[in-house]
Amino acid sequence: MSRIAYVNGRYLPQRAATVHVEDRGYQFSDGVYEVCEVRGGRIIDERRHLARLKRSLDELRIDIPMSEAALAVVLRECMRRNRVRDGILYLQITRGVARRDHGFPPPGTRPSIVVTAHGIDLAANERIAAEGVGVVTVPDNRWQRVDIKSISLLPNVLAKQAARERGAKEAWFVDRDGHITEGSLSNAWIVTKGGKVVTRPADYGILRGITRTVLIDVIRAQGLTFEERPFTVEEAYGAREAFLTSASQIVMPVVRIDDRPVGNGAPGSVATALRAEFHRHAEWS
Ligand code: PDD
Repeated sequence: MSRIAYVNGRYLPQRAATVHVEDRGYQFSDGVYEVCEVRGGRIIDERRHLARLKRSLDELRIDIPMSEAALAVVLRECMRRNRVRDGILYLQITRGVARRDHGFPPPGTRPSIVVTAHGIDLAANERIAAEGVGVVTVPDNRWQRVDIKSISLLPNVLAKQAARERGAKEAWFVDRDGHITEGSLSNAWIVTKGGKVVTRPADYGILRGITRTVLIDVIRAQGLTFEERPFTVEEAYGAREAFLTSASQIVMPVVRIDDRPVGNGAPGSVATALRAEFHRHAEWS
């Protein structure tokens, strides 16, 4: 079965699903995106993802070219046409097609919308989570508005590749003060020796992950102590547990940071419990 993509009003086999060479996403990374989890044929936290999409678009002054209701239909149609019950929806909106000019294109230029869907192997993900993953630290060399979910991801691409070349699953960015900001495609967390669950405040220095937002509810519901504050690489090395969160990985235990074992080098009980509980607190639609 060939995979189907939605491109500006049409559902096309992926090999025919193309954008114009002067699409501003292609030329300037001038656009935003969202990634939502699909589970059991339902979209997880759709409302929050669409709210964040709206915020990202507003920050970049891109007018959303269709209603939220129409977008919700397109997302479901992409799931249906690709027969995705468990997987990922990818949605991208750029400032549209115009003759190359760094400034905004003429008024009336229609933003481009692309949606794709693909399945993921839940059992394989569970096996990875049961073992935990390694991360490496890299300098955070990104721009200062990483709170916007922009498609401009070059530092993230290089960081993720550095992780791969060092045998790790993810790279954690470190700011000039030695604090971990977040991962190349996930948020970063530790559990202190005293059992406090810590993650960096969602200011301009990280993306406010939807998984992160929901997980804070889970942490409170479990009666754990939650601290939103920066933490250093040294504190992470000495943590009892570490984990990362994203729509595609939910809560993924981190068992190695820069080749040093975290805790006893196995997934921790807090991360494992939070992972097990996450979907009871998420919104299903
Ligand atoms: N990444 N931080 C960054 C830099 C991210 O790219 C992501 C998501 C997150 C976690 O956000 P959420 O919990 O809403 O997925 C944090 C997606 C999954 C991606 O780029 O594939």
